[in-house]
Amino acid sequence: MTEQNVLDALKNVIYPGFTKDIVTFGFVKDVVVENTTVGLMLDITSSADEVKDELKKRATEELKKAGFEEIHVNIKAPEAPKMMSNSVSGKNIAPHIKNFVMISSGKGGVGKSTTSVNMAIALAMQGKKVGLLDADIYGPNIPRMMGVEGQKPQIQGNKLEPLKAYGVEIMSMGSIMEEGKALIWRGSMIMKAIDQFLRDILWSELDVLVIDMPPGTGDAQLSLAQSVPVTAGITVTTPQEVSLDDSRRSLNMFKKLNIPTAGVVENMSGFICPSCDEESDIFGMGTSEAVAKEFETELLTRIPIEPAVRIGGDTGQPIVYHKPDSETAKRYQEAASKLWAFIEDINKKGGVDNASVQPTTPPGVSACSTAGAATAAPAKATEGESCGTGCGCH
Ligand SMILES: Nc1ncnc2c1ncn2[C@@H]1O[C@H](COP(=O)(O)OP(=O)(O)OP(=O)(O)O)[C@@H](O)[C@H]1O
Ligand SMILES: [Mg+2]
Repeated sequence: MTEQNVLDALKNVIYPGFTKDIVTFGFVKDVVVENTTVGLMLDITSSADEVKDELKKRATEELKKAGFEEIHVNIKAPEAPKMMSNSVSGKNIAPHIKNFVMISSGKGGVGKSTTSVNMAIALAMQGKKVGLLDADIYGPNIPRMMGVEGQKPQIQGNKLEPLKAYGVEIMSMGSIMEEGKALIWRGSMIMKAIDQFLRDILWSELDVLVIDMPPGTGDAQLSLAQSVPVTAGITVTTPQEVSLDDSRRSLNMFKKLNIPTAGVVENMSGFICPSCDEESDIFGMGTSEAVAKEFETELLTRIPIEPAVRIGGDTGQPIVYHKPDSETAKRYQEAASKLWAFIEDINKKGGVDNASVQPTTPPGVSACSTAGAATAAPAKATEGESCGTGCGCH
């Protein structure tokens, strides 16, 4: 018997979850053959016990079929991620990430993605190890805003390497799916997508993962809060009354999901004229301070409407990095410092816990898509909010 017999036999062993076999992946190493005795090493990328067991069983079966009698299959796998998170109890499917920040808003188009990008970069510029997850699966904008549009993540075994720009690790549905292709998401699919974003991306041991949410207070927000302990929530709003009404919904959601609220970012607040650098009040400004107070939190910063912010987003050149001396960049830096101080304070007080928002439906069944299922959110909807399906508010 030869090494070739071994490789031929192992070509029949498909790596779990993939269409390729373990020889093609290059996982078979250190093959030693003597008559009908074979020893080898499978150097795999998964630390999951199910994967190790399955591969050992399948490899042994195939080698037996090929005529080997004494078979020694050793597995080399990466260590399971260390528990780094500050979570106290509950569920955490990404324990090597220390803190999670949810950037939300009651309505669309107010500047969540812009805030997420600039805050993530500001934290990285302040020396933190930062990831940016675009959880807006309906309209992923982060790749363009971070200047990584069109880049595809590298595959490592059954996991994906995040992209990287401005010192920040990045992952987005926009980097995975075909450009311009729209997907229709049901509740259970959203849960699965969020789960994979946290489990199957090779995030480093991050200080913080900043998460840009889709607008509103629906399935994605609830899934995230159930999957990891969210250390801090930020609500982005514009200064008009109608937007403030929506941000109350977002702040209320943080409360219901037991997410500590770091504060409110009032975006498009006033206007900085590019030719004279003077700030004027065109849409109103400073109005969200009162709303923040209502929810016992603070106004983290006011970001003016400024062409450089939009151009930065459109061209993948975020203002905080490319115009660090501008007033707006300074405000983002200041807001990032406040956010970090808030996170440290939360952790000093014992960290966060998402045990109370765990679903009561069986695993794999979305509480959101199961009409009449027990309410997954901790508190029942209050009058006037459309929280009928147990998925937070919509
Ligand atoms: N302060 C600002 N000054 C000028 N333009 C801005 C500012 N903030 C955001 N924009 C622009 O407004 C548009 C909407 O912002 P953004 O995409 O960040 O909002 P969003 O809340 O993430 O939207 P969605 O709900 O669709 O995800 C973008 O083109 C962005 O560049
Ligand atoms: Mg967005």
